[in-house]
Amino acid sequence: MQLKIESVDIDFHQLVNNSLNAIWIVGEEGKIYYCNRACLKLLEVSSSENILFQNLYIFLPPDIHEICKDRLRRVLEDKETLDLFETKMIRSDGEMIDVEIRTVPCTFENKVFAQVVIHDITHRKKAEKLLNDQGKLASIGQISASIAHEIKNPLTSVKGFLQLLKESQPHYYLDIMESELDKALATLQNLLHVSKPDLFEEPLVPIELCKELDSLLFLFQEKLYNVKTELIFRDSERVVVGKRNLLLKAFFNLIKNALEAIIEKGDIKIEHYYEDGFINIKIFDTGVGISEDILKKLGTPFLTTKTEGTGLGLTQVFTTIHEHGGTISVQSVIGEGTVFHVQLPCD
Ligand SMILES: Nc1ncnc2c1ncn2[C@@H]1O[C@H](COP(=O)(O)OP(=O)(O)OP(=O)(O)O)[C@@H](O)[C@H]1O
Ligand SMILES: [Mg+2]
Repeated sequence: MQLKIESVDIDFHQLVNNSLNAIWIVGEEGKIYYCNRACLKLLEVSSSENILFQNLYIFLPPDIHEICKDRLRRVLEDKETLDLFETKMIRSDGEMIDVEIRTVPCTFENKVFAQVVIHDITHRKKAEKLLNDQGKLASIGQISASIAHEIKNPLTSVKGFLQLLKESQPHYYLDIMESELDKALATLQNLLHVSKPDLFEEPLVPIELCKELDSLLFLFQEKLYNVKTELIFRDSERVVVGKRNLLLKAFFNLIKNALEAIIEKGDIKIEHYYEDGFINIKIFDTGVGISEDILKKLGTPFLTTKTEGTGLGLTQVFTTIHEHGGTISVQSVIGEGTVFHVQLPCD
């Protein structure tokens, strides 16, 4: 069908085919009769033949099939326009994506079909999750910092009285009490340090991360004899503006974790490159990997699987990267290794 506006012909088929939203026309039992070009991109298929005359349920996770059947019935039989529906879809490569679906009835040659408009919201969902995680971490940080602060003061005065007691009545038990108290105070000090990095005034300075990463690796030299390291530094002239000590400590903690994850032999690769206003640093290791359960909680203070670990390393990393306006993501496969991907804003 064509519409003429002044001297311009509007080709409706082209309009629908080039729409930025994916559009399907679906009939009974979920058979797909039409899909526009955006559908191919959404589902990552090369030709419409992979979609046309297929059953729409092959692109939907099994747990929502019943809901979708009922929704389709409401459109085809009751001619109902449905509310916005958020769900997941399965791409041709098996990857799950988040989508928002609108469905309205439409009639062709007296037969009712469902016009399904699909909007990919994967990026929005990821951003929401990130904000949520950052919020959670920030509140954990604030709570931990205030608890640490509250406990530190009375413990410090207990330590003072203990010292006085030791002077008047020395006893072996008092020495043990003092050294245990010192450990507790050091942990609290550490917690304060990592959960509220901005408590510690540090000027913002330009930092050449490639040079700094190189020097950081040097600090681990004696641990590197069984570990092959590879540095792939691109765009090394780029600088990040930030708190140098905090950022170096964060990368120190990430490299330390990578090394500790390698049991006997393994590889560590560090990548540095600039993309779209961000410096990207990726730290790969071929270590033990992180279980799903731990992965979800990374960054929580005192979360550790190591006998000697404090579980504060990643808390410092997450708070520091977020304080610098950056993001951090982790991918890990048990028995294969882990990659931490840090992005820091860079003009
Ligand atoms: N690269 C990695 N590979 C495997 N597991 C990791 C890696 N990085 C972190 N983890 C897991 O996350 C946990 C928390 O890490 P985090 O750095 O916060 O504390 P830690 O290393 O246990 O102790 P600390 O850093 O205080 O010495 C670790 O105990 C470990 O289980
Ligand atoms: Mg650590």
